[in-house]
Amino acid sequence: MTEIQVRRASRPLRGELRVPADKSITHRALMLAPLVRGETRIDNYLDSGTTRATLVSMRALGAEIQELDAHTLRVRGGGLYSLREPEEALDCRGSGTTMRLLAGLVAGQDFFTVLDGSPALRRRPMARIVEPLRRMGARVMARDGDRLPPLAIRGGGLRGIEYSLPVASAQVKSAVLLAGLYAGSPTLLHEPAASRDHTERMMRALGVTVDTAHSGVVRLEPAAGATGALLSPPSSPLAIPGDFSSAAFWLVAALLLAGSELCLSGVGLNPGRTGLLDALARMGAGIHADEEGERNGEPVGDLTVRSADGLYATDVGGDEIPRLIDELPILAVAATQAQGETRVRDASELRVKESDRITALAGELRKLGAQIEEQADGFVIAGSTLLRGARVRAHGDHRLAMSLAIAGLVASGETVIEGWDCVADSYPNFEQLLGQLAV
Ligand code: S3P
Repeated sequence: MTEIQVRRASRPLRGELRVPADKSITHRALMLAPLVRGETRIDNYLDSGTTRATLVSMRALGAEIQELDAHTLRVRGGGLYSLREPEEALDCRGSGTTMRLLAGLVAGQDFFTVLDGSPALRRRPMARIVEPLRRMGARVMARDGDRLPPLAIRGGGLRGIEYSLPVASAQVKSAVLLAGLYAGSPTLLHEPAASRDHTERMMRALGVTVDTAHSGVVRLEPAAGATGALLSPPSSPLAIPGDFSSAAFWLVAALLLAGSELCLSGVGLNPGRTGLLDALARMGAGIHADEEGERNGEPVGDLTVRSADGLYATDVGGDEIPRLIDELPILAVAATQAQGETRVRDASELRVKESDRITALAGELRKLGAQIEEQADGFVIAGSTLLRGARVRAHGDHRLAMSLAIAGLVASGETVIEGWDCVADSYPNFEQLLGQLAV
């Protein structure tokens, strides 16, 4: 297990930075492009631990994916019915997105698939996808009363369902939509709160009819016509925007380090992902978002951030949570430096991420001197804390590791982060940038 040392930053963050490609959108491109009949290029894809799990699994399902260079893929798609039964269990590694979305995709296939993963993934809840996929007609079995991985799926013969998602989860919604491509009738989903809609946008870019005109409702027309060729090649290569969730670490770092001015270019600005900008604006941050256009239906632009003169506490909860769920660890770091008490509620989903992000975050930030009170569905942080370096642990959670690294930039002395290797799940060169930009 690797560890890194982070010292208090000796200078502000200045200049321009391109963050790695979006992890969520990369997973979707890897799963959808092989269903197109013909060649699709994927530009600026993210090559990381979790997206590799999807790429390797798609190849095991028969997809022809060629790596042209470190960031470009050529996919020769054979249409909706071109996948074949894998010989071995698909290894989703630690990736919940891989397992849940692939479960939906293979539920549509008239063959047998086993989906497995790392010990950490084997602890993450799967009943949320088992239930709707069964209702659609797939035969799905899982461990521990059909709750935990591995999953065994015999797919095919699906029907569309009308279904109310029990949690606002883009992974569950996407699993049902991927299965819905193969259903004999439309699929109608009701969401308790809007979650990221990358699947809907990419399906639309590939000619699928997905109606999201009524808020909280998604209606998908099945794509499985008699020819199975109804996914059309995109009008331009699938170009993946920068990952807002990766940009989030630098946004907060620049806010906290006096004299900083940083431009993050080519970042995905899908409103389902940018809740952190709203929360930080309430805290007094000056972040300018300059949307420059769309790539395959996804808004993209530049973010310019200047260090904040002062940050103030805020409350985060309700429908805002799915829009910043992955940014709550780094928001917590900002909150330790804000005046007043920041409260996060309605975020119990944090407990079933790569780690139990409430307990792990509270425990590790406390080691750095933060005053943070854990609650069932969130946390309360007393602001204006002087952080001091300490030895902390990443708990196998890339977002926790990077949040602790940013905390280390404002803490006195040295912070040592154990278990750093998990950062490669979403941001393989983060440590290098940290060295170049801040130390
Ligand atoms: C993701 C959805 C979110 C998010 C995860 C990626 C996706 O999970 O936390 O990092 O790509 O669909 P949930 O769907 O479980 O909320």
